[in-house]
Amino acid sequence: MATSTFRRGEKIGPTGRPARAFPEPPTLTQHGPARIIAMSNQKGGVGKTTTTINLAAALAEYGRKVLVIDFDPQGALSTGLGVSAHDCPTIYSLLIGKVKDPYETIKHTEVPGLDIIPANIDLSAAEVNLVNEVGREQFLAGILRKVSDHYDVILIDCQPSLGLLAVNALTAAHGVLIPLECEYFAMRGIALLLDIMERVRDRGLNPSLKLDGIVATMYDSRLLHSREVMEELVNNFGDTVLESVITRTVKFPDASIAGQPITVFAPEHAAAEAHRQLARELIFRGAIA
Ligand SMILES: Nc1ncnc2c1ncn2[C@@H]1O[C@H](COP(=O)(O)OP(=O)(O)O)[C@@H](O)[C@H]1O
Ligand SMILES: [Mg+2]
Repeated sequence: MATSTFRRGEKIGPTGRPARAFPEPPTLTQHGPARIIAMSNQKGGVGKTTTTINLAAALAEYGRKVLVIDFDPQGALSTGLGVSAHDCPTIYSLLIGKVKDPYETIKHTEVPGLDIIPANIDLSAAEVNLVNEVGREQFLAGILRKVSDHYDVILIDCQPSLGLLAVNALTAAHGVLIPLECEYFAMRGIALLLDIMERVRDRGLNPSLKLDGIVATMYDSRLLHSREVMEELVNNFGDTVLESVITRTVKFPDASIAGQPITVFAPEHAAAEAHRQLARELIFRGAIA
């Protein structure tokens, strides 16, 4: 557990540090260029898509112009935001050069200020299509460069693998946010992801790639194993573990069935507030404008 002296009566957050209220972010008077963040963890079902949707919606509430990229052929980000990805140009159309202008693929969501480039199952062919191309790691970076000035933040919802698409995301990104489920063995894959990030830096694909933070998801303070995983996480990664923690609640699956962020589906729910807190923390830390 992180050692610091606590004042009597001080409330301690789940990460073992004093619970802080991050300040309301200042209003932005101008927008862009975007900071690009890859939401990455090669394990599936850890909360990448859920965190992407709800963090994005919370940032939009704070007046940030947000673009989310569905970078998983499952298309859960698109569905979760109530956007149909059938019979329309997608991120795949851009990757294979069938559509050249990314603005032709951008859709507005029902949240003002939150846009998406959707994906569908076609994206599963991308790795095979791109593997023999020149600059195969840099396709996504090239696409996002064309729209970056229009947004304050771009979040890439990665698929659970460490293949060529993941490398494209890590090459395009300024920072990486790792959603990590508070379950045993959750940390096993992290070393591999950090290793790939190191290689992306070392090979000159993206020398300044940062780890913006690890966000613990599906935390349940009543469960010993949740608390143990959190303690181990903080012991290993210290302040890289964000103070904002996402608790386990059925509101998330309910909201995704409704195709809405939790901030819209249940705006007063603690889980909506947790994502606003996450948004405020990332702005406070300078990861987002
Ligand atoms: N904090 C949470 N509490 C309860 N269920 C959650 C939570 N976060 C995500 N889920 C559910 O877990 C499943 C996997 O989450 P998802 O965000 O799709 O993970 P990933 O994108 O990493 O595969 C989804 O059904 C989602 O609704
Ligand atoms: Mg997902």
